[in-house]
Amino acid sequence: MTSRRVLITGASSGIGLATALRFARQGAHVALLARNERGLAVAAALVRAAGGRSLELRADVTDHDALRRAFERASGELGGLDVVVANVGAAAYGRFEETPAEDFRRVIEVTLLGNVDTIREALPLLKRSRGSLVVTGSAAADVPMPLMSAYTAAKYAMRGFVDALGAELRASGSPVHLALVEPGPVDTPFWVHVASEDGGLPPSLPFAYDPDEVALAIVRAADRRSERTTVGALMLAARAARGIARPLADRVLARASALARSSGAERRGTAAIWNPSGEGRLHGGIGGRPSLLVRGATSVRGAAAALGGTLAGLAAGDAEDGASR
Ligand SMILES: NC(=O)c1ccc[n+]([C@@H]2O[C@H](COP(=O)([O-])OP(=O)(O)OC[C@H]3O[C@@H](n4cnc5c(N)ncnc54)[C@H](OP(=O)(O)O)[C@@H]3O)[C@@H](O)[C@H]2O)c1
Repeated sequence: MTSRRVLITGASSGIGLATALRFARQGAHVALLARNERGLAVAAALVRAAGGRSLELRADVTDHDALRRAFERASGELGGLDVVVANVGAAAYGRFEETPAEDFRRVIEVTLLGNVDTIREALPLLKRSRGSLVVTGSAAADVPMPLMSAYTAAKYAMRGFVDALGAELRASGSPVHLALVEPGPVDTPFWVHVASEDGGLPPSLPFAYDPDEVALAIVRAADRRSERTTVGALMLAARAARGIARPLADRVLARASALARSSGAERRGTAAIWNPSGEGRLHGGIGGRPSLLVRGATSVRGAAAALGGTLAGLAAGDAEDGASR
């Protein structure tokens, strides 16, 4: 079998890096796109160690010319692309009224428009290869995140964009498979790289998943085994709660917002919306777990392992689950 040609944006850290390693273990040729040269070099070395071939593409997804050149180089050197994962995301943290307007705009530029432009570059190439386009959204499109209003807006908009684009592709008989993966909280460096006017960090997330769980969902989506995946049954429950008892659910959100404000932790490192931040690290150090149903959909043994991880987490004092639909 010829190796798959894959381009992943946001591949120097977290979910993008975990996805690159999953494809690498299948022997894929992986083009890694991000801004941080050092993080890209680490990611490329990890990809090679995992059995794949790598191509480092240093580009900012908000720079149209750089993005176009990166796609041209990737399709030239890899001889086309079979899979593109539009995965870049970064956030600003703080109350809307205290968030500088330029930070708000930049979150939308990076997290929404950067991915939209990635998709614009990807579609013609994927049409040629009858390939797959996977977009990393967020469960924030269901459960709004107080103190991250720009990020929430970007993820709501991304879901709307993907749904509209999907209808267009279906109507035109496009051979491109379009999929959206929407994770709940994930243990990646994302959380320490939020821009924050007062330097405060979001509190540690009690229900975080391991980035490899999202990577598994992305690879399955690229294999055309799903069009929409939510990683995190808790997110499905929160979505249902908002549908059934919205006033109560919104009061809980407001309370969570007040508690989150008082977490007191200080931001380390750079604000990813403005500066290269990916350092070739998978985890953010908040502890991530397997997702029961993402694993369960793959194998009985995987589900058992995930259940073990979940029970261990419960024994350690917090609750978690995972789901896909
Ligand atoms: N972590 C979570 O809890 C969570 C939950 C739901 C959804 N997500 C989504 O998952 C995706 C990946 O996030 P993550 O958690 O893996 O975060 P992460 O570890 O901070 O990784 C973000 C990646 O995006 C790259 N990036 C950021 N801005 C960029 C830009 N302007 N141009 C090019 N690359 C850029 C970063 O690399 P450079 O800095 O080197 O450019 C890095 O490789 C995002 O779409 C995020 O919204 C995350």
